[in-house]
Amino acid sequence: METFIGNNEVIFEQLRQKLRSTGNKACVHSFGCQLNVSDGEKIKGVLRKIGYSFTDSYSDADLIMLNTCAVRENAEDKVFGIIGSIKHLKEINPDLIIGISGCMSAQEHIVEKIKKSYPQVDIVVGTSAITLLPKLLLECLDGKKFSADITEYDSFSENCEQVRESSFKASVPIMFGCNNFCTYCIVPYVRGRERSRNACDIINEVTNLVHNGYKEIMLLGQNVNSYGNDLQDGISFPELLIRLNSIEGDFIIRFMSSHPKDVSDELIDAMSECKKVEKHLHLPVQSGSNSILLAMNRRYTVEKYMGIINRLREKNPEFSVTTDIIVGFPNESDDDFEQTIKLLQNVRYDNVFSFIYSKRTGTKAAAIDDKISEEIKGKRMRHLLEVQCTIAGENYKRFQNKIIRVLVDGECHRKQGFLNGKSDEFIIVEFEGDKSLIGTFVNVRITKTMSRSLYGEIVRKG
Ligand code: SAH
Ligand code: SF4
Ligand code: F3S
Repeated sequence: METFIGNNEVIFEQLRQKLRSTGNKACVHSFGCQLNVSDGEKIKGVLRKIGYSFTDSYSDADLIMLNTCAVRENAEDKVFGIIGSIKHLKEINPDLIIGISGCMSAQEHIVEKIKKSYPQVDIVVGTSAITLLPKLLLECLDGKKFSADITEYDSFSENCEQVRESSFKASVPIMFGCNNFCTYCIVPYVRGRERSRNACDIINEVTNLVHNGYKEIMLLGQNVNSYGNDLQDGISFPELLIRLNSIEGDFIIRFMSSHPKDVSDELIDAMSECKKVEKHLHLPVQSGSNSILLAMNRRYTVEKYMGIINRLREKNPEFSVTTDIIVGFPNESDDDFEQTIKLLQNVRYDNVFSFIYSKRTGTKAAAIDDKISEEIKGKRMRHLLEVQCTIAGENYKRFQNKIIRVLVDGECHRKQGFLNGKSDEFIIVEFEGDKSLIGTFVNVRITKTMSRSLYGEIVRKG
């Protein structure tokens, strides 16, 4: 049963009445991962239904919703900085409502901190903003000083309208939450346990998106490979890919993230056989040291990880592989770090997203007495980035003179008349072209390769 309080028409009507006497422009600013951005699009859907229109500027807004991320401390600091910097806007617009949603606000200690030190905040709603926001907004418009509700409702919202940021790229969450409890990670605490959406709902949503001209479908989940484990219908993630691949139309299916412990041969087979699925696997490894992987509770070894990469590459030598790395997990030794560098050199990733470990209150790793200095962590990070830059620069040479398909994203800010986009391998490509091509597939012959992107010229429209 769906608990979708956001659909409560009575609350919506009361809100519409009240909004007549205040302004109705909302600024919804999402931070963090694409799942959170997708939640932000649903929050906008609810607000539009109430009667809000949208602005990108804080100073124009009558409602500011900061849809936050808690994955690292700097993400939280950034939001606290913004809450401080928008305080004065309440003097200019006394009707201004400031709301905090998303992963930060799903933590009780953060709610306490906001309540105590940031009186400019009116509403705090956890990761179920879509369902609870209307109720809290109404309380606030009725004069309540501070309304907070971080109850964990099911975040399913099949009937929820969405205000999508793009007209050709769509995020489609296939599951919510995470069961893995990697010892450094806050996500399972702020997003709850894994809940998979019904395959039918996902297939219908993607079919509609493709009908409406969407060219890129990004399937989202904290661990898409455990999709369906909590359902009875027996549809696994590889099976879901096969079914989505058979939807008619010219589009690309991307997905993230995959947990190495759950990558199966069926997934690799499905990726090889489904022509609409991207030629790319994002497979976060986090560390190249088995003892650190154990301390992280990742539940795989470097050897098992390499086995997956080798099987993928045997079948699909042209596929691109990317990863996430945490540098400076508590007590990571020089030797542990060296093993991560070795892993990078063995796998030869096309891109690495690397993060310095950030202590998260409430996680297991937060209790470890860490002896490694921030200076050493910084040094390791710089070394890792250098090594990876060289590897990517060498890897990308394989595209020289090749013709590859690119979905055009937008105009290149640095160069007039140039466009950029992403290849099927998830690599950034820049080329000259007319902006009418944005949102379409083009074929590009690669004329120059660098370590972060490829350059080329359009050969014919794809
Ligand atoms: N579910 C995804 C990851 C979501 S968080 C997965 O398992 O792949 C995205 C990335 O943030 C993680 O892969 C990890 O590299 C990084 N991360 C998570 N918690 C972190 C922390 N406490 N400090 C630094 N990086 C962290
Ligand atoms: Fe965090 Fe691990 Fe879950 Fe990813 S799999 S969200 S890193 S606990
Ligand atoms: Fe951040 Fe929450 Fe995503 S913590 S990374 S916004 S799931």
